[in-house]
Amino acid sequence: MQPTAFWHPFANMAEVSANRLTITRAQGNYVYDDSGREYLDATASLWYVNVGHGRSEIAEAIAAQANKLACYSTFSDVTNEPAEALAARVVELSPMPGSKVFFGSGGGDAIDTAAKLARRYFFELGAPERQIVVSRRDSYHGTHGFGTSLAGIAPNRVGYGDLIEGVAIIDRDDPEDLLRLASEAGADKIAAVFVEPVIGAGGVHLPGEGYIERMREITREIGALLVIDSVICGFGRLGEWFGPERFGVVPDMITFAKGITSGYIPLGGVIVSAAVSEPFFSGKGAAFRHGPTYAGHPIACAAAMANLDILEGEKLIPKGKELENPLAEALRITLDSPIVAEVRAGLGLLGAVEITPEYRSANPAALVNIQLAMRERGILIRPLVSSLAVSPPLTITESEIERIGSGFVEAIKAVSSKS
Ligand SMILES: Cc1ncc(COP(=O)(O)O)c(C=O)c1O
Repeated sequence: MQPTAFWHPFANMAEVSANRLTITRAQGNYVYDDSGREYLDATASLWYVNVGHGRSEIAEAIAAQANKLACYSTFSDVTNEPAEALAARVVELSPMPGSKVFFGSGGGDAIDTAAKLARRYFFELGAPERQIVVSRRDSYHGTHGFGTSLAGIAPNRVGYGDLIEGVAIIDRDDPEDLLRLASEAGADKIAAVFVEPVIGAGGVHLPGEGYIERMREITREIGALLVIDSVICGFGRLGEWFGPERFGVVPDMITFAKGITSGYIPLGGVIVSAAVSEPFFSGKGAAFRHGPTYAGHPIACAAAMANLDILEGEKLIPKGKELENPLAEALRITLDSPIVAEVRAGLGLLGAVEITPEYRSANPAALVNIQLAMRERGILIRPLVSSLAVSPPLTITESEIERIGSGFVEAIKAVSSKS
């Protein structure tokens, strides 16, 4: 293959330039490369093709909107019909009655919006000293300014000079670590705490029993906002519309992206509670001087409406819950291998197979080699930190899930028998 001008995200281009997988088309739960080879998309691309590939309903909605009104700014007092309809529908589906929706172009935008809004909210309330935004070890909140500063995956913060001040990273699993931070930094200095219901890119880490509920209690106790980052966990991934419903928790903000359009076109946003949006809607506060060019983009919003129609019409949202145990069982068969340390799955349609530290240190290319062995068997998975992750479309069948498990067993055996 020719050297490329296309710089891939999160890639060592010296390594990938010569050996890339070119996807040319996709249908249902499968994608096809430029030689026509078929692969089961066991990761739903990057956690987002919730309704599967090739949905003509979404393509048609995009085309129809592009022909009617492809684009127009929503800054200041201008609006459009798809943005209005989608915002109202998202509020209706959310666990936050009376909330408002701020749109952007993806998850990173949503994180920056939520972090700025948290600080600005307290500024409007006369508490500008509440500035600290908090995330957890191993969390991932995108690569924008706040997302980079909040990165719980340490290497994602390295080499970018001084990051945003007033950011703290707490323990991943112990909610009481937030109380420790509050007593050290001052409870009245903490603005918001960002929590992924299930940590995704950091290696698929499920919350302990009662963890999310306790984070809600503590944030209330210290007067900070709870921001649930549902960029991965929304739109059925946890078997609910947004994820926090699984824990009976009502947050102050929810960030979303990915599954809102099943990735057919970029879109993200923040659901902001009635209380937090109030100063900005009641005339008490000034304008929120923030917003990306494509906020409320009509084509993206029309695509989302068509995607939500499919999720609702085909009852795909509960699939994230119905299929969580079959997926966990399929992945657990890898535990027979001596190089598998643990399987993390069983809450939502996502999971990870952790490879032992001993095997990884003896074989630094272990994760990539297993990924490639899976690819040879026609299954796309993803190396994540020290594990291999899957998060298939909600349309996956139980027999396809079994195929992921047996593919893992074969691929791990093939790779480990060579070393
Ligand atoms: C939990 C979480 N938050 C935020 C983001 C950032 O989203 P984007 O890549 O659309 O900027 C991601 C991306 O994977 C994510 O997983």
